[in-house]
Amino acid sequence: MPGGRMFSLGGRLALCASLVRPGSRLVDVGTDHAYLPVWLALAGRIGRAVAADVRPGPLARAERNIRKYGVEATVRARLSDGLDAVSPQEADDIVFAGMGGLLISRILLRTPWLRDPAKRLILQPMTSVEELRRSLSEQGFAVLRERAACEDGHVYTAMLCGYDPANRMTGRLYPYVGRISADTPENRLYLARRMAPLKKRADGLRREGDRKAAEELDEVRGRIAAMLGRPEESN
Ligand SMILES: C[S@@+](CC[C@H](N)C(=O)[O-])C[C@H]1O[C@@H](n2cnc3c(N)ncnc32)[C@H](O)[C@@H]1O
Repeated sequence: MPGGRMFSLGGRLALCASLVRPGSRLVDVGTDHAYLPVWLALAGRIGRAVAADVRPGPLARAERNIRKYGVEATVRARLSDGLDAVSPQEADDIVFAGMGGLLISRILLRTPWLRDPAKRLILQPMTSVEELRRSLSEQGFAVLRERAACEDGHVYTAMLCGYDPANRMTGRLYPYVGRISADTPENRLYLARRMAPLKKRADGLRREGDRKAAEELDEVRGRIAAMLGRPEESN
């Protein structure tokens, strides 16, 4: 844990923090150390927060940090599987960071009160990002903003979502890059790192004789290369 009254968030959690609305009632699902709500409370950027975790060990870490930084009046730790022990009145913005995309998707599915256009979801999946994006669209969530951040040589994405079935995202490129555009160095790195895995998958599909699926992935790769201004790289 960083010492002193204020501390720095890494690039990944700083990106999540930047997507939280000022003054919001925050719920941080899978909080572990509670760095995100503690930092936002110290910065005076949130009204209240629930720091939720399903396991007692991480929750004890959260409680220690809440006390250490003296933000007990703003941040409360709570044992909760997903949002099961949280009420809709406690939540404007709900963060899921550092968790698998499939787990995030399952928790969203079983929490009907999230289907409220006034609520915002800030999602920072570590795995199964394509599956999460597809599930968001199926569940009627629109991706309002998405950006990438770098930390320790890894590049992560974080997306701000809201319930808006009429504007949910579709299209061939969407599951692979979401709303990431090529306008920051981090976003460009995120897009560039999609290329090699897509090629590997397309080559595998071609070997299995599924030419149509391989060509679809080739098209996605071509469009990402065009976004990066490097059409020659898609060959
Ligand atoms: C890798 S940590 C992420 C910590 C922090 N959010 C971050 O991004 O740095 C994932 C946390 O999610 C918690 N978790 C896993 N399944 C959960 C669930 N169903 N509900 C709430 N928390 C869960 C784990 O106990 C763990 O503390």
